[in-house]
Amino acid sequence: MTAEVPGAGNNGERVFIRLGPPPEEPGQFVTDGAPQEYPADVQARLEVDAKEIIGKYPSPRSALLPLLHLVQSEDGYITPAGVEFCSAQLGLTGAEVAAVASFYTMYRRGPTGDYLVGVCTNTLCAVMGGDAIFDSLKEHLGVGNGETTGDGSVTLEHIECNAACDFAPVVMVNWEFYDNQTVESAKTLVDGLRSGNPPAPTRGNLCKFKETERILAGFPDQRPDEGQGGAGAPTLAGLEVAKEHNMRAGDNAERSDAEERHKTSTPPAGEAK
Ligand code: FES
Repeated sequence: MTAEVPGAGNNGERVFIRLGPPPEEPGQFVTDGAPQEYPADVQARLEVDAKEIIGKYPSPRSALLPLLHLVQSEDGYITPAGVEFCSAQLGLTGAEVAAVASFYTMYRRGPTGDYLVGVCTNTLCAVMGGDAIFDSLKEHLGVGNGETTGDGSVTLEHIECNAACDFAPVVMVNWEFYDNQTVESAKTLVDGLRSGNPPAPTRGNLCKFKETERILAGFPDQRPDEGQGGAGAPTLAGLEVAKEHNMRAGDNAERSDAEERHKTSTPPAGEAK
């Protein structure tokens, strides 16, 4: 919406003030075809799930984040129906729900493919090849940032640091890590996703986007935990050096104390003792 404010310019000329988001900004929860409300059977099913989620929190409004994942597990993104559902379950206004949903990047504003492929293009991954991977996947898949392939299988987006810099450059599929990627391995990865033969992630278990969202809503992942997590070698390098030199955390503190005592007992140069 644009408001025209007569006489507001320095010389009485008209100025234009934009109200609300710019029209070119995608996905303001008004995507074409997005459901406005849920059919009775879906509503009833989601209400049972919502009750279970809300019961985990002392205050219902605290359950908003998992509830947004729940409605995203239904629709694949945040829809007007999802916003309305969360609002009704939690006693919040639609504006309050939308404000939270639009703040966090894990809540999507448009339809999502079975696999959300996120390429980290934050500093470390970018210089290690993340930018090249992202550019090559855009070309390989024929989609831009945030767009989905025509077969609905893959949505591509660039993402910020996912705290896996040890394994840069990383690609995430439905928030599961694929470490130390290259342009070629990333192409092989998305080809596998599209053909129904996704390679296993480096850590964790892969499932389709809506299934992942249900897990993020707080429902248990029944699959066995492969347990491949933990810090990588670059993170542990400092610890190894410390062990080699028999260093302890207290060593620095003791040294600092000694240095501080020395400073306070030594007058500046030129001053008499
Ligand atoms: S910069 Fe990519 S995971 Fe940290």
